[in-house]
Amino acid sequence: IDAALADGPLKGRHVLVTSGPTHEPIDPVRYIANRSSGAQGTAIAAALRDLGAQVTFVTGPATVPPPAGVQVVRVETAREMLAAVEAALPADAAVMTAAVADWRVANQNGQKMKKDGSGKAPALEFAENPDILASVSKGPTRPRLVIGFAAETEQVVDHATAKRVRKGCDWIVANDVSPATGIMGGTENAVVLISAAGAEAWPRMAKDQVAKKLADRIALALQNS
Ligand code: CTP
Ligand code: CA
Repeated sequence: IDAALADGPLKGRHVLVTSGPTHEPIDPVRYIANRSSGAQGTAIAAALRDLGAQVTFVTGPATVPPPAGVQVVRVETAREMLAAVEAALPADAAVMTAAVADWRVANQNGQKMKKDGSGKAPALEFAENPDILASVSKGPTRPRLVIGFAAETEQVVDHATAKRVRKGCDWIVANDVSPATGIMGGTENAVVLISAAGAEAWPRMAKDQVAKKLADRIALALQNS
């Protein structure tokens, strides 16, 4: 089976996939996080592997396990993820599915924070994290095909189209993560693929199916360029 898989349309291609949330420490025992399960990124890495790609999978602390047959690089924070991504380049394509924390805690405490008995809560200060997708898209070792994801809760296509231009990536896979959709942490996804050519809405389907369809499109794009 392995030999057959290795002969797929992505044989000889290196694809980088980021996945999962990042955790941003407050102190040694507490962190800021988000609800990403890593399911979509994991499914995409597996689908790319099944087409024969050599996959580097840079993952934050996801709830689903990473796929077999890929090179797994585990990170915790956004800054660690950026360093791991840079170390994994060059690649033919990059698929940035990670739900990177937009902010880290600027006034991180070296020791566990303690209540001081006054009843006053501590104030957290935040600093913006580096934008990994923008940095790869605009960097010196840019993969030929750079794909971002956009989690939106409103005006999905407009926001994601603007994001594609702002970040300099080729495609954005946009999805509506408003709580009513049940997509965040669920098994299905309804996405819109946004490229320079416009927006293409895909029907709601299992995350595995989204992953297969996207992997096929990636293989096609790399063949034609
Ligand atoms: N992303 C990234 N680094 C960040 C933030 C986001 O690489 N610090 C990537 C994500 O992996 C995703 C894409 O950028 O592929 C869009 O993420 P999203 O959170 O939707 O975009 P933001 O630019 O953070 O905008 P927003 O304010 O809407 O969260
Ligand atoms: Ca964000």
